[in-house]
Amino acid sequence: MTTPENVNCGKLYGVGVGPGDPELLTLKAQRILQQVPIVCVPQAETSTDSYALNIVREFLDRETQEIMRIPFPTDDEDAAGDVWRHAAEMVAERLNAGQDAAFITEGDPMLYSTFSYVLESIRANHPNIPVEIVPGVSSVMAAAASAVAPLVTHGQRLAILPAVYGIDDLREAIANYDTIVLMKVNRTLLQALANLEKLGLAGKGIYVRRASTDRERVVQDLQQLTEEDLDYFSLLIIRK
Ligand SMILES: C[S@@+](CC[C@H](N)C(=O)[O-])C[C@H]1O[C@@H](n2cnc3c(N)ncnc32)[C@H](O)[C@@H]1O
Repeated sequence: MTTPENVNCGKLYGVGVGPGDPELLTLKAQRILQQVPIVCVPQAETSTDSYALNIVREFLDRETQEIMRIPFPTDDEDAAGDVWRHAAEMVAERLNAGQDAAFITEGDPMLYSTFSYVLESIRANHPNIPVEIVPGVSSVMAAAASAVAPLVTHGQRLAILPAVYGIDDLREAIANYDTIVLMKVNRTLLQALANLEKLGLAGKGIYVRRASTDRERVVQDLQQLTEEDLDYFSLLIIRK
């Protein structure tokens, strides 16, 4: 909505860029990414690479578009709030100066996304800035597609959890849901697997790494998993 206060203000787009295959970018995401002057790219402080940027790189024009790197903390949760506020201010300054910006996020921007923190801060401190979200193909959907495994049918129930939860949470989820997707499994994968065994769910898990990319791996027999599979961009689908 355009109001007198935001008439000169740029628009913030939260753009989902999908799980990895550039062909899974939506037409809308592609159009917006080609028209904005600024593309904001979240990047772990510990990394020089960006998974999301690699997906869209071929659609950007490095001569005319600015890539604004947004560093984000990976382990110091106490400092995270300040880092996100600072990041939001960096972006808001440009939006308030009248430029549009697209903040890219792997998968969908509304699911466990770094964009949520920036969005929260912008909405709280710059309510004049218009925001539009462009949904993306989430890794959850892409992983189910790669595994050719329907997640839920009819009246079944689906839970999506980060794998940081322990066996009690998993037991509760198993009791209440038909299918559970565990995300962010890399560091906790071995523990998650041991928990499946203890809960009598051995043989019920499917591990999907880097769905939709040329490094994709789908493992139905979890005994086959190797060190190399411990990858941040992986998840477990557990179907009872
Ligand atoms: C911060 S969350 C982002 C989720 C993202 N917003 C989405 O909609 O997929 C990161 C987690 O998503 C999962 N993930 C992202 N891309 C993936 C892919 N191509 N294959 C498998 N899992 C992926 C992994 O579990 C990873 O730890």
